[in-house]
Amino acid sequence: MTTAVTVRTLLSMKKKGEKITMVTAYDYHSARVVDAAGIDVILVGDSLGMVIQGHENTLPVTVQDVTYHARLVRRADPHCLVVADMPFLSYQVSTAEAVANAGRLIKEGRAQAVKIEGGREFLNTVGALTDASIPVMGHLGLTPQSVHRFGGFRVQGRTEDSRKRILEDAGLLERAGCFSLVLEGIPHEIAGEITGSLAIPTIGIGAGPECDGQVLVFHDLLGIEAHLEPKFVKRYANLNDEMIDAIGRFRREVKEGAFPDLDHSYSSSDRRAPRAGRRPN
Ligand code: KIV
Repeated sequence: MTTAVTVRTLLSMKKKGEKITMVTAYDYHSARVVDAAGIDVILVGDSLGMVIQGHENTLPVTVQDVTYHARLVRRADPHCLVVADMPFLSYQVSTAEAVANAGRLIKEGRAQAVKIEGGREFLNTVGALTDASIPVMGHLGLTPQSVHRFGGFRVQGRTEDSRKRILEDAGLLERAGCFSLVLEGIPHEIAGEITGSLAIPTIGIGAGPECDGQVLVFHDLLGIEAHLEPKFVKRYANLNDEMIDAIGRFRREVKEGAFPDLDHSYSSSDRRAPRAGRRPN
């Protein structure tokens, strides 16, 4: 049996210089796949708004949506630490609302930690959540919930002011109690500087190789999402094309009468017992 990953595991991985891996998952099966691959952390990301729900950004996602998907992920009983994203406006209005919403993700979604986007503006929130024993992962740089303020999904930290602010925010979030930080869409030199200055691990996406770990969205990594291919995404498979090909072959075989053949049909002399709890054998 593989040992369960906790927030303490991630801290000790940083100390040992062992890279951390995180992949998003949104349901039972994707969680089983990510777990079987030996990934350390599953993020039930609000990216589900784009890759599952088909929105153009993450803003429409609700606490109920993330709670539902976190519950499906936890049903796979993965050894990975399961972190749930706090969606847009679930933590920005007040710290009391933030604690109540994070509480739902933990109690109903059975997540083991939450992630929030932003820096100095949320130090009290990070404090209130950690006081309530809810571990918090921070998220700096190209924070997708700020897409309208940024005027699009743009790399951050390219001006001196922005670089300085991100560096300061990283230190402030660590002091406020975050157990790790996602760094997204920033020049790798800044990510390297932050990583070297913090005791907590950094997990990068479009932030270069110096981070303590890396995260990719499930659909990007596997090539299930075929529309967009940002520079930071590396596709390790091309499942979009493979799925279209497989379903196309099924369609052809049905049209031609080649499926189902007798190997995939029951006969009146078949008396095999159904597989336990599943469909008939
Ligand atoms: O929602 C998400 O999937 C994320 C990752 C891209 C870090 O926040």
